[in-house]
Amino acid sequence: MFNLFKKKKEEVKAPQFLPLKVREVVRETEDTVTLYFEQPEPFLDYKPGQFLTLVMDFEGKEQRRSYSLCTSPFVDPFPGISVKRVPKGKFSNFLNERVFPGKTINVLKPLGNFTTDFHSKNKKHFFLVAAGSGITPIMGILKSVLVNEPNSKVSLLYCSRNEEQIIFKKELGTLVEKNPDRLEVIHNLSQPSDSWKGMKGRLTKESILDFAKKAELDPEFDKEYFACGPEGIMDNVVAVLDELGVLRDKVHRESFYSSAADKAHEDAAHGITGGLLTRDVTVILDGEENAVTVSPDKTILEAGLSQNLNMPYSCQSGLCTACRGKLQSGKVKMDEDAGLSPNEIEAGYVLCCVSHPLTDDVKINIE
Ligand SMILES: Cc1cc2nc3c(=O)[nH]c(=O)nc-3n(C[C@H](O)[C@H](O)[C@H](O)COP(=O)(O)OP(=O)(O)OC[C@H]3O[C@@H](n4cnc5c(N)ncnc54)[C@H](O)[C@@H]3O)c2cc1C
Ligand code: FES
Repeated sequence: MFNLFKKKKEEVKAPQFLPLKVREVVRETEDTVTLYFEQPEPFLDYKPGQFLTLVMDFEGKEQRRSYSLCTSPFVDPFPGISVKRVPKGKFSNFLNERVFPGKTINVLKPLGNFTTDFHSKNKKHFFLVAAGSGITPIMGILKSVLVNEPNSKVSLLYCSRNEEQIIFKKELGTLVEKNPDRLEVIHNLSQPSDSWKGMKGRLTKESILDFAKKAELDPEFDKEYFACGPEGIMDNVVAVLDELGVLRDKVHRESFYSSAADKAHEDAAHGITGGLLTRDVTVILDGEENAVTVSPDKTILEAGLSQNLNMPYSCQSGLCTACRGKLQSGKVKMDEDAGLSPNEIEAGYVLCCVSHPLTDDVKINIE
């Protein structure tokens, strides 16, 4: 039985916003700031590498953005996020310029699969690749390995534009000094000063290969790989690891921006919808079936939200999986699927924020 429009606005279960109070604002670089929050009661429950969804009103409209926690719940007393400015970006500029200690920001509970389990008995070599603000979740993971796994070690390859743009430069240096046998940090700068002696230039597949091949030097360690940064670098990392025969379940990747999802939004705004038709889909939410009419210029999430369905979401770019559902019938087109693993895609998972129905029998269960 469909519950079309059954959930009227006043009946919609409000999302569980958690108000977090900013405790400290630390300027990391000219364009990046770290916001530390007071611990809520009970303490924020998160895994290293997960992200918070910040919820704010802009131009009278509620909007959400995802920000990875740069802290480790095993090390840091207060949870924090680091935010790098994006030109003309609403949230990133606001958070860089207009947030001070004492301000309260609503968030959704931490989410995300860019994480792993840490055990004191593990003997692993973690290979981490980060570029720009992609260092944020990597920082939480790195610190968690060092404190929880005395037999494990970490190699980090970190790409920044120049010396001034290296986020957490001092903190990383201190961690290397304290853990000289367990932590190696290689900085790669694309536009360094003349005095820079380290690795430089565009990060090529060859340099990623040299980095990843270090794994051969210590066969007795299990290996796990994390990469976070722009799509191009992530694609190269995954291609190199594929060439080396690394199993995909040992490789975690996360991107903060999808050019494909961005273009699809732009196209839809200009009426370019690639032959899509208006179709009804069924969205199962909290066990209830809801009929949602999806026009060609909308994604299934946008259509559901505009019909007052309280569907979960965060990035709206197919990257974070907050809107993930399982396809029970029918076919959809996804503008982006970078957030899903090959196993999830094979199992029929879809991301509602970038999905459009291709058939009349689409039924998606949001679990
Ligand atoms: C899982 C996840 C974790 C994230 N973690 C972090 C984090 O730890 N730190 C952080 O700084 N950001 C992070 N982001 C990105 C963040 O959520 C925002 O997308 C980013 O801050 C831009 O938001 P905005 O409101 O400032 O820009 P918007 O107002 O959304 O965008 C302004 C313009 O910039 C374009 N744009 C947006 N982002 C980019 C980009 N990265 N590159 C090029 N163009 C872009 C948009 O298409 C638009 O045209 C994360 C994203 C995801 C999905
Ligand atoms: S809301 Fe992030 S993947 Fe859909």
